[in-house]
Amino acid sequence: MNINVDQIDEEIKKAKAEITVAGVDYQKAFQEMDAKIEKELQEIESLVAKGLSPIPEINFNDLSSADDDFANLVRKRGCVIVRNVFSKDRVDQWNENLMGYVRDNDYFDKQAEKAGMDKYFSALASGKPQIFGLYWSRPQMEARTSQEMADLRSWLNRLWKWESENGVEFNPDQECLYADRLRQREPGDDTLGLSPHVDGGSVERWLDDGYRNVYRHIFSGQIDQYDPFDAAYRTTSSEIPSPAVCSMFRTYQGWTALTRQGPGDGTLNLVPITDAMGWMLLRALQDDIDDTNLCDAKPGRAMVVNDAYHAKLLRAYVPISEVGPGDTVWWHPDVIHGVEDVNNNTGYSNVMYIGAAPDCEKNRAFLNKQRPAFEDGRSSPDFAAENYEVEFNGRFDKSDLSPLGRKQMGYEA
Ligand SMILES: [Fe+2]
Repeated sequence: MNINVDQIDEEIKKAKAEITVAGVDYQKAFQEMDAKIEKELQEIESLVAKGLSPIPEINFNDLSSADDDFANLVRKRGCVIVRNVFSKDRVDQWNENLMGYVRDNDYFDKQAEKAGMDKYFSALASGKPQIFGLYWSRPQMEARTSQEMADLRSWLNRLWKWESENGVEFNPDQECLYADRLRQREPGDDTLGLSPHVDGGSVERWLDDGYRNVYRHIFSGQIDQYDPFDAAYRTTSSEIPSPAVCSMFRTYQGWTALTRQGPGDGTLNLVPITDAMGWMLLRALQDDIDDTNLCDAKPGRAMVVNDAYHAKLLRAYVPISEVGPGDTVWWHPDVIHGVEDVNNNTGYSNVMYIGAAPDCEKNRAFLNKQRPAFEDGRSSPDFAAENYEVEFNGRFDKSDLSPLGRKQMGYEA
């Protein structure tokens, strides 16, 4: 990818001209997609009106016997809550360990010195959340490399079509460990919300060749051919480098709850419609949007979902149901999500960000950069180089890795 971010208006104009050169009727394509989305919106609104959650959920122990209807529902909604992946006792211990890890290593004093290194969320109205630049604690590494997570990720990855038009895109049963961060939200906190957005690139979805292949059926107006769970070309996209933009291919973003948290507790909100991305891509190609504009998508930032252009989709922006310690939530990389502005919980709303990044060339290349950071305790190479943990006590180190962990870190093939 060769995107000149200093001349982004020109780049967008050029991309729009390239995409639309084939003579596709984008008004018709958008209308078709819009009708599809309208149906899903009404379905979700009717569930919500009945007090039901549109976000599918299942117990970890029931996963192996889940039927096709459930799998298809997860594909359609692009998200799922999987409960009781870890026991409450184990997660309570993890949470205590993490709170101590932050406190005893004087994280807050050190953070004050390094404030402002992470600009990723600055385009979102609600500002920077209380997310910690910590990657290598024992609980994070134990959860990431656990057998429970490995089994769960296999199930989730197998909802994808990993072998199709572009050959084998990834191995659904082998993870490349992605060291993400931690959220500890204080009771009553009202400063740390995140407006609705999509991660993994913004303007790239129209500008980058890899992404154009991913969305080939959208851009060619073949709406009924578009399958968000077809992995073809997904591992070939490249993102504009920027702190906190994930440069791995993830089949899902996700987190593991460390504490009880429900709607209103500063928790996750989702638009549970996987096809919504197709709608957004086509929306930006409509005649009322300027040649140099992609519905306000900005390079190096999260892709914003706003009232000006995307109000329709936000009709389905709903909080996830209450979750408890050891429950996990997962969403497709195209799914719109955000975090509530206020934590009305009487306790902390804490999570460990743990998604799924299956084995593929792109992810193996990232592991090669991530291993030296792990060994030194530096920040993950995808995030601001705050490097808090270099001098932290109680860090997880190489000798603590299980055989599965060694594979996931890329120490063994
Ligand atoms: Fe996000």
